[in-house]
Formats: sequence, C-alpha cells, structure tokens
Amino acid sequence: MTELPTPSFETPPAEILERLAALRRDDAPTHGGHVLSYVYDSGLAELDELAASAIRAMQPVNGLDPTTFGSVAVMEREVVSFTRALLNGDDSVVGSVTTGGTESCLLAVKTARDNWRNAGGEGMPRLLAPVSVHAAFQKAAHYFGLGLDLVPVDIVTGIVDADRLIERLGDDVALVVVSAPSYPHAALDPVVAVAAACAERQIDCHVDACIGGLVLPFWEGLEPWDFRVAGVTSMSADLHKFGYAPKGVSVLLQRGRDRQRTQYFATTRWPGYPVVNPTMLGSKSAGPLAASWAILHALGLAGFAELAASCARSTRSLIQVIEGIRGLRVVGTPVGPLLAIATDEGAPEHDRVDPHHWADQVRQHGWLLQLQPALTQTDGSRLPRTTHLTITPVTEGVLADLSVALVTAADQVRGIPGITAEDALGSLPADAAAALGAAAGPIDSEASYAMLVAIGLGGGGALPNRMAPFLALIEALPPQLSERLLTELIARLVEPR
Ligand SMILES: Cc1ncc(COP(=O)(O)O)c(C=O)c1O
Repeated sequence: MTELPTPSFETPPAEILERLAALRRDDAPTHGGHVLSYVYDSGLAELDELAASAIRAMQPVNGLDPTTFGSVAVMEREVVSFTRALLNGDDSVVGSVTTGGTESCLLAVKTARDNWRNAGGEGMPRLLAPVSVHAAFQKAAHYFGLGLDLVPVDIVTGIVDADRLIERLGDDVALVVVSAPSYPHAALDPVVAVAAACAERQIDCHVDACIGGLVLPFWEGLEPWDFRVAGVTSMSADLHKFGYAPKGVSVLLQRGRDRQRTQYFATTRWPGYPVVNPTMLGSKSAGPLAASWAILHALGLAGFAELAASCARSTRSLIQVIEGIRGLRVVGTPVGPLLAIATDEGAPEHDRVDPHHWADQVRQHGWLLQLQPALTQTDGSRLPRTTHLTITPVTEGVLADLSVALVTAADQVRGIPGITAEDALGSLPADAAAALGAAAGPIDSEASYAMLVAIGLGGGGALPNRMAPFLALIEALPPQLSERLLTELIARLVEPR
C-alpha cells in the first residue's frame, strides 16, 4: 500500500481551538435568554448535545445526493412528514428541507413564478403582500424578476386589511404572501380571507410561517392559518427557529406534487453528473438536517407543546409588564412569542418613552433587544419605530430579571424625545452632511467608505454602543443611500486586513 501524505500542521489544533474560543467570547451570548432575537434557546442542554452529535455523525456527508447517502433521504422524509402533520397538510402536501427561512421563501417565489409562466402568464409577474412580509420576499422579487406590490398595514396595530389586499389581486399576480405571524409586528395576517380570494382567482398563496410554524400550532384561539385553509398553496416553517435546531434548516411545503416539481432544477445537458436539485445549493451539509431530525424525534409533539406553553406564559407576562410601563405600548395583538414595542403616543409628552432609547438603555442592563426603524408606506402613512423581542423557552427562567431591566430602563429614558430625522442629519459632521447631500447617483466603494468614516462608522464594521442615532439616520436617509452605506459597512468587515 502506498503511504498517504501526512503533512504536519502549521498550527496545532489545540491552539486553533483556543483562538476560536477567544473569538467566541466576544460574541453576543447565544444561551441564557439575554439576546431577544436571532437565537432560539430551548434551555435544554441535552437537546444541544444531541444536535451536536447528530451534526458530527453527518459531518462528511454530502447532502447533495440522497441516492448515494440514503440517510439524507430518510431524515428529510421524516422531517417533512412531521412538519406536514403539524401544519395540517394532507397527502397532497409534499416538501423539501432547505438551509433556512430565506431559502424557503426564495424557492416559494421561484416556484410560483414558474408555475404562473407555465400557466400562460406573460410579462413581469407581481408579488403581492403586506408591507410587513419578511424582507426575504423583497430579495426573492429582486432575484427572480417580480414586481413587488406591498400593501400598507395599520400603523397602530400592524395588521393588514384583507380587503385592501384582495382588491389588488389580478392576473399578473404570481404569488400572494401572508405571514403567520409577521416578524416586525407579530401580526397574524388574515389567511382565511386572503387565501379564499386567491383560490377563487386561482392565484397561489404562500403562508410564511418561518417564525411561527413550530410554535403557533400550540397557540390557543387562532383562526386557521395553515393547510386547513383550502387556498393555501405553500408554507415555510423554520426548524432553526422554534424547532430549536442549529442554524441552517427550514422546510418548504407545497400543496400538489406538480406544483412542487417546478421547484426542482434538473439538467442532463452537461458532460458531468446529472444534476437534480430541489433547492438552491448543490453540495451541502446534511448536519443541520440531522440535528433537526434528532430534535423532532427527541421532543415529539408533546415536547414542542411544553416549550410553546412556556413561551406563551413568558409572552403574556412580558405583555403585562410592558403594558404597565408608562409611555410604551405593545403593538397590536401579538400572535406568537414575539413583540413589537412602540411609544404610547396617547401619553403626555413628558411620559413618553422612545423605543430605541429604551432598547439602548436595556442593553446597558445586559439584555439585547432589536431596534426596528420607522417606515413610510406607499400610501404615505408612517409606521412608527419599534423595538422587537423574540421570546424563547429560556426566557421563563430569567423573566423576573428581564422585567426589572425593562421597567428600570424605561424609567431612565422616559421623557427623552426620540431622535428625529433632522436631529440625525443635523448631528453629522459638516463634510458628512455635504457628502450625503451630494450623493445623487450611484456611489462607489471609496466614496461610501468616506461617508461612513465621516459619520463615525468607519471603525471596521463595529457598530456604536448606542444604536438609536444609527437607526434615526437609517430612517432619515433615502433608502438607496442607507442600503449602499450598510453594504459598505458589512463588506468592509470581512475584507482581509
Ligand atoms: C416570518 C419570517 N420569514 C422569513 C424569515 C427569514 O428567515 P432566515 O433568517 O432563516 O433566512 C424570518 C426570519 O426571522 C421570519 O421571521
């Protein structure tokens, strides 16, 4: 036998792992409930260990080919079967495991676009949705060449009026998307009314349950929002959110085999191996699939129900706490374990609490909330700035401390007016203001970076400790400009130094 090469390591593995541990120490904490977005902590260390072992077992496998790696097919089948049952899909519902919510949303749109074209649709198809639909659908419209028609939602409740959406249906609509619930306001869109109107006109209707899919089935008192509704043609549900799996796994379910087959890309027209991809990637990790599969089996329906009940209790408590805070209000009627918090405009000015000052102050107490900017809708009405909280099972254990932080922080910033667009622009150094004012057309990387430096954000991607001024600037700038500057900020972060 020929001896294989055994190169010596340039850096010993232990040293590399030490460096990694040091890097990780500077990250926001993924466990313990202090970060109320991005991470979904079940609070069960055993579940994390199980997921890690499952990933390890699948580490060398290529999820590209379920015929070579049969384990991938079995696990995917079982994951699809579990989520289909949970979302009340019958035998006509089939599905795929994707790498995350965004990929599920992208594929839902691509599939609908292609089915619309196959049915004779010509020209540019339209994607119709409430403005609160996840940004992944803006991305999908951008990638796949659909016009985006975003319907304003109520500026107080975040809820879309079903009739307002339905009146915009037309032959050029390839897909309507509603959310269960929406990320920005935790609003459960009017699935029944919208899906019925879509079915009448044979228009596809996607329910984006990326965040709600594994938790709303255990929420009480909701009108149907899943495959029980006849007009719902597809659904997305993320296992790396309330499925408690590590990042990289979501499910896209489609009603009808023929609808779903359009999702696939297959080619035998190259000199390599025949390619058949149900999802966007080619070679891919099967680790997150295995982890979520293991978690579904470990928890079962009863386990998910218990964790959802914990989320529901914590959400109710936090709503009470926030409703008790003078100057803040909970937006609408949150459905699911997430909240948007806005200023209570009904309170006298000296009692009002700006949600962004509040979030910054809460951070000083060791809790990370997510700031959401105000937004002008197509009808000119303006959605207020809000602060987002995602509540997970682990929240229940820290509820008392979190509540104290929320109340204390509000007391500390009550009466301080929110930063206005004028404040944000007025506080810029003169050269930054001039540069921003002059930026009419496309701006290149150097000019973008110069602006970032001028406004104090040139520090290699580091964001300021206080985010309220930064968000106010995002609200104040034309979106093309803020999007360009943010692109530069993030791109510079990973450039070799
Ligand atoms: C409703 C909804 N849809 C889609 C997504 C996108 O998911 P991901 O971040 O996994 O790509 C999210 C993420 O929060 C979401 O809440």
